[in-house]
Amino acid sequence: TKKIILDCDPGHDDAIAILLAHGNPEIELLAVTTVVGNQTLPKVTRNALAVARIAGITGVPFAAGADRPLVRTIENAPDIHGESGMDGPVLPEPSIELDSRHAVDLIIDTIMAHEPGEITLVPTGGLTNIALAARKEPRIVERVKEVVLMGGGYHVGNWSAVAEFNIKIDPEAAHIVFNESWPVVMVGLDLTHQALATPEVVEKVQAVGTKPAQFVVELLEFFGITYKDAQGFDSPPVHDPCAVAYVIDPTIVQTVKVPIDIELTGTLTLGMTVADFRAPAPDDCTTWAATTLDADRFWDLIIDALNNIGEV
Ligand code: BDR
Ligand code: CA
Repeated sequence: TKKIILDCDPGHDDAIAILLAHGNPEIELLAVTTVVGNQTLPKVTRNALAVARIAGITGVPFAAGADRPLVRTIENAPDIHGESGMDGPVLPEPSIELDSRHAVDLIIDTIMAHEPGEITLVPTGGLTNIALAARKEPRIVERVKEVVLMGGGYHVGNWSAVAEFNIKIDPEAAHIVFNESWPVVMVGLDLTHQALATPEVVEKVQAVGTKPAQFVVELLEFFGITYKDAQGFDSPPVHDPCAVAYVIDPTIVQTVKVPIDIELTGTLTLGMTVADFRAPAPDDCTTWAATTLDADRFWDLIIDALNNIGEV
């Protein structure tokens, strides 16, 4: 099995990432940590706990982390995710308690308690917690197997012409994460814009027929409306579970080794993930960009996970 820590800001697609990680037998979910992003920290943390209840996740620590970016002022995404951060479905009251540790400490403790090379970090929000963890306990950098993050892209942005939300909201944190020596797989918009929840996909999810599946249908319905209104998509791209899918089966997500760095000073390009495709990647390159998704197999993973979760 593959041990992961999911650092997220639920978030419609973050919620589906949690469900995929929980429902897939290849993944052992060691911890879920939250970070300011799609909404404020209290809101995304509450949403994460609600997802835990809906999916029947018990025995996995959940901890809240950074409530603001390292340097910048807070930017949330109510136009996409609503005022709650996960508008659409009615959310249950949480039934598990938050871990008393700060997310950064839970991340560090978990990594240091495992053998080197065992744990994959899967960030699906801004990179504030991950950057803070790397600074607080630098030894985690060589212990982590790889960082498979949803964020960035090499072609288009969604929070500016060239910058993606998760990177743009805390570019300094992203700069730290991309420049550490651990392997970083950037599952960016080039890839996630291939994970479209078309009406056929929503129908298949509905056909699973359980309450967790119905929850996903309601998430996708709300996400579909905001993505149409705010971003002009016919069907919404379901970004975050793509990073989990790569961990489950890397043959579903093709990648290319390419140097990537984060723009911190551009007036038009702040938060751009600048990928240098000029030459074969140098030997010391530790970054990969996701390029092509096998969408059918991706959605099969989601359906399988929901079937495994069953009726909670
Ligand atoms: C990313 O931004 C967030 O709104 C989504 O949850 C996803 O992680 C896509 O740009
Ligand atoms: Ca997210």
